[in-house]
Amino acid sequence: MSGWSHRHLLDLASFSREDFAEILELAQRFRSLPVTGVRKLPVLQGRLVVTLFFEPSTRTRNSFELAAKRLSADVMSFSPSSSSLSKGESVLDTARAYVAMGADVLVVRHKSTSVPQQLAADLDQLGKRTMILNGGDGLHSHPSQGLLDLFTLARHFNAQHPMLDVLDGKKVVIVGDILHSRVARSNLWALTACGADVVLCGPPSLLPDDFSAFVDAPPPGLSCDPVMQRGRVTVERRLEQALPGADAVMTLRLQKERMAQQLLTSLERYHRDYGVSHARLQLCGREVPVLHPGPVNRGIEMTSALLDDPSICLVEEQIRNGIPVRMALLYLMTATKSAAEPSLPSFAPISS
Ligand code: CP
Repeated sequence: MSGWSHRHLLDLASFSREDFAEILELAQRFRSLPVTGVRKLPVLQGRLVVTLFFEPSTRTRNSFELAAKRLSADVMSFSPSSSSLSKGESVLDTARAYVAMGADVLVVRHKSTSVPQQLAADLDQLGKRTMILNGGDGLHSHPSQGLLDLFTLARHFNAQHPMLDVLDGKKVVIVGDILHSRVARSNLWALTACGADVVLCGPPSLLPDDFSAFVDAPPPGLSCDPVMQRGRVTVERRLEQALPGADAVMTLRLQKERMAQQLLTSLERYHRDYGVSHARLQLCGREVPVLHPGPVNRGIEMTSALLDDPSICLVEEQIRNGIPVRMALLYLMTATKSAAEPSLPSFAPISS
């Protein structure tokens, strides 16, 4: 029986180890389903999932929509430029329009931190049953990305049984623009909850020293951390110092729009100091996987040759894994809220 207790999914800070384990287990079951021929599961028939993206997306929005369709939900998407937002309608009123149409889940992405949280609070106050699933808000959180990265790493270390214990004691290096990365923040909560030690690496303008204490305090709004013992977080300025002994490397998108703020002297220098390449990975002392949430700036965060090497670079695997992870999230949030006691799906498919 599911122990899922989250009404909305806003971040990973409040997740217990059991929550992570439940997602991984269910994602692995969905991942194991055949992806050709008869492949739709009837578990979300009659449910409505709306992707409410106020910021561009390729991977997150489309994989949420595909995940919802594979569970037989009805799906609607929203485009800011062709919506009544351009006539001055507010974000809340836009959301309420979809609630009035019967939305069970709103997957929300916004460039401002905490918009999904505000919508969740507003809908709760209005007594609406619609759930908010954060598709990425400002610098704060990108929970489904953190979960698919966790799943991808767990599968890399144990493809048949990708559970939390395979990450215990692993050293994961996250390199790049950590200050502006919601992906890094979600990964910090997820990886340390599973016992991985995280080394953050980047220049001071993109990685303040105090990030080493990121998971030390109880998560916002909670009096104590739901995870008893987390892995450690350290900050290392030089990639040559960070890589030895690493089990995995995660690079992050360098947000070129921030060059206007003169956070870096040049892209060439950034690539020289923090770009990941086949040659540099040899410093790890073993063959290690490289992850990147995408979109990638080819030749800046990593060399083009590395990006195109699927034996090391897991970018395509991350995208593939995004679908079963998001199926698991939608299933846990919606199917387990029905009046009847949910049984985990028997996975009897219906024709597509
Ligand atoms: N990783 C990620 O969030 O990609 P998109 O912006 O394409 O959704």
